[in-house]
Amino acid sequence: MSSNERLLLVALVLLVYGLFCLWFARGYFRRGGLVAASDTLVAYASQTGTALALARQMLAVLPANTRLLPLNQVDDKVLSSARRALIIASTYGDGEAPDNGARFAQRCVTGKPLANLEFAVLAIGDSSYPRYCRFGRSLHQGLLERGAQPLSQPVELDASQQEATASALERWHSLFRTLDDAAKIEPLQSEAASLRQLWVMKQRTLLNPGSPGGPLFLVQFIPAEGQACDWQAGDIVDVTPTNDRSRCRQVLTQLGLNPKTQSIDPNRLMSFEDALVSRELPDVPPTLSRFDDETIDQWITQLPIIQSRKYSIASIATGGTLDLVIRQQRDENGRLGLASGWLTRQIEIDDSVSIQIHSNPLFRSPEPEVPLLLIGNGSGIAGLRAHLYRRREHGAKRNWLIFGERDPKADRLFADEINAWLESATLERLNLVFSRCPRRPMYVQDALYKNEDNVEAWVSSGAAIMVCGSRQGMAQDVDKALTDIVGRDVLDELEAAGRYLRDVY
Ligand SMILES: Cc1cc2nc3c(=O)[nH]c(=O)nc-3n(C[C@H](O)[C@H](O)[C@H](O)COP(=O)(O)OP(=O)(O)OC[C@H]3O[C@@H](n4cnc5c(N)ncnc54)[C@H](O)[C@@H]3O)c2cc1C
Ligand SMILES: Cc1cc2nc3c(=O)[nH]c(=O)nc-3n(C[C@H](O)[C@H](O)[C@H](O)COP(=O)(O)O)c2cc1C
Repeated sequence: MSSNERLLLVALVLLVYGLFCLWFARGYFRRGGLVAASDTLVAYASQTGTALALARQMLAVLPANTRLLPLNQVDDKVLSSARRALIIASTYGDGEAPDNGARFAQRCVTGKPLANLEFAVLAIGDSSYPRYCRFGRSLHQGLLERGAQPLSQPVELDASQQEATASALERWHSLFRTLDDAAKIEPLQSEAASLRQLWVMKQRTLLNPGSPGGPLFLVQFIPAEGQACDWQAGDIVDVTPTNDRSRCRQVLTQLGLNPKTQSIDPNRLMSFEDALVSRELPDVPPTLSRFDDETIDQWITQLPIIQSRKYSIASIATGGTLDLVIRQQRDENGRLGLASGWLTRQIEIDDSVSIQIHSNPLFRSPEPEVPLLLIGNGSGIAGLRAHLYRRREHGAKRNWLIFGERDPKADRLFADEINAWLESATLERLNLVFSRCPRRPMYVQDALYKNEDNVEAWVSSGAAIMVCGSRQGMAQDVDKALTDIVGRDVLDELEAAGRYLRDVY
């Protein structure tokens, strides 16, 4: 190569390098300096998967290096390395944080100033709860107090109202349209898009005759039209009950009205009785100034629409039936709970009901080789039973069930199945405990303390822990017992690693 040719080559290399630097610098400054525009963090706090589903949808349309984390895994290091935090946070319990946001809630209020952080909160809640969206609101406030820059007021999403959900998602979405790197975000889909199907009730069995506790029923459904039925162990259903028609008629006749009178509202071509079926009935008859059709229509319209209730699925899809375990509830006047009464009393064999399967990726059992401690009480057997069926299907043997009810004679739920699991070694260990056992009254947390060496050994050997049932009482006391046995730090690590999971209500 001549010296001229060599010079030309060097010039060409320098030119290419220069162009590359220019291109890189342009991108660098466009992205706002040291932090790339895609240094966005999407964080979620979710108990039953709604906030997680939305967070995943957002992740799918944001730049590839956007991080997705449960809120508990967001610490000061993560916050200070992000330019923008988009937080989707549901409220659970009594205005509290979901499990995977509770630790963040404790530490969010203190720490270094976050002046370089932009943030926005999508607060998910249900306006029928007194502490509506309280957790999302408190996150917004906490980040404000630490000097972070809000992109907007918290966007509040009322999950109980379809229209309100859609408009909140639109507001959240339009927030992104104003952000440079997220202009192409597709509208987010609300949960309403998930599967709602008709199911036929085929069997209803009382599980605890003679129990001192409320009656527990196994209610079994098959698909109405042979449609594919698919769900995973840990999923839950949403069912929307209706009022007993005789009660609607009673309310209307008490008001001196004919239940069959047609509503005059052109949007509701139905009788007063039909209109009342899906509305919450008042405990005492209303005092109406007039009893003309218009006043009655107005009164019916302002009654809240009955909200859906959640139930843990107690079976797996390959079993052929969708099973629920329902505790029949009664209020202090002996009146049946709306949904539990509807499922355990009102609907009849061969009736079709609309059920929405709600995917709950936050309550999935681990891989078959991972040992599993399943802890629960009462109707919590539902979720545990589904997981045990799944574990059996996958040949997982290291399963330990610790389950509590009241009476050792009346409350041996699913005794045949549990014996079969023991015989087939699906269950390696079993502790059934009864709080009203005359000889040895015991709660599940007592069983944990009594077996603390084994609990420690299982956790040390990599076991996961799943808890299902009452949030107050059982789940709280189990959490305390586990904290005492393995230590809070270990329990937090298990939670962070997806090895301490709860379906508690
Ligand atoms: C994730 C999850 C899983 C569950 N799994 C089971 C299960 O497997 N088995 C089981 O028996 N129960 C389960 N429950 C409880 C169930 O959803 C109902 O709360 C229970 O059956 C009582 O409902 P009810 O309509 O019979 O009583 P209600 O007539 O509703 O009366 C009970 C009280 O709860 C309030 N309430 C209940 N649900 C709602 C709601 N959605 N919105 C507003 N207020 C409400 C009512 O205002 C009332 O004060 C679960 C709950 C959750 C959150
Ligand atoms: C047991 C339970 C308690 C709840 N408590 C509240 C509450 O105190 N305030 C509120 O605004 N919403 C409350 N909600 C409504 C939830 O925030 C709403 O259902 C949300 O969609 C759940 O989202 P997730 O699936 O991400 O957990 C509660 C829901 C349940 C099932």
